[in-house]
Amino acid sequence: MRDDVNHPAKWERYYREGKAGWSLHTPTPVFQHLLAEEDAQGQRVFPPGRILIPGAGLGYDAREFARHGFAVVAVDFARDAVEAMQNALTPETAHAIVQADLFQLPAAWNETFDYVLEYTCFCALDPTRRDEYAAVIARLLKPGGKYIALAFPLGELVHPPEMTPGPPFPVNAPQLIALLQARGLVLRRREIHPATIKPRKGREELIVMQKQ
Ligand SMILES: C[S@@+](CC[C@H](N)C(=O)[O-])C[C@H]1O[C@@H](n2cnc3c(N)ncnc32)[C@H](O)[C@@H]1O
Repeated sequence: MRDDVNHPAKWERYYREGKAGWSLHTPTPVFQHLLAEEDAQGQRVFPPGRILIPGAGLGYDAREFARHGFAVVAVDFARDAVEAMQNALTPETAHAIVQADLFQLPAAWNETFDYVLEYTCFCALDPTRRDEYAAVIARLLKPGGKYIALAFPLGELVHPPEMTPGPPFPVNAPQLIALLQARGLVLRRREIHPATIKPRKGREELIVMQKQ
């Protein structure tokens, strides 16, 4: 069994050993605020659409977005995560759950998503694959589609990046933004959100980008 973040076995072991310490075991409060946001005309700022959640883990956010009318596609390559998501589904939170490597998602999915939701997936990936991640996001979003990310944990990779201890691998928000800008996304919003949970205060940042 390879001890490698690129391989699902490492993540399956975390789940089996009860070491999924990243999970809030509840929907992410910042995303719940976004779901409730309305503009001056009383329209939802993030209206329901087709949304991809890569590295969806135990699926709390997937079920929350589904409950709010989104057509959710939750992707994770760890069998334990996929089984946990399948077991937690209710008629109210029904959505697609796909066991797959996010770097190998089908070309048939290109430009089919109104949104991609990112939370603690980017920091789980091999830091040498960050540009590859940006390319996946860019190809899956529809033109006009939005990337909604809570960048966590904020920090710096060491050099060379493959020597950085992790996961989680630290996330530099400007670098994440630059990777996606290079793939044709435009920054729409960036903020330290007040709904961040206490233990993560100062360690995460909301980023919203849009594909041109
Ligand atoms: C740190 S966990 C975060 C889970 C969830 N987003 C959360 O906030 O609770 C990272 C998840 O990404 C999954 N993952 C890591 N690399 C992946 C890849 N290349 N393709 C699909 N899933 C991946 C892992 O199996 C794990 O469930």
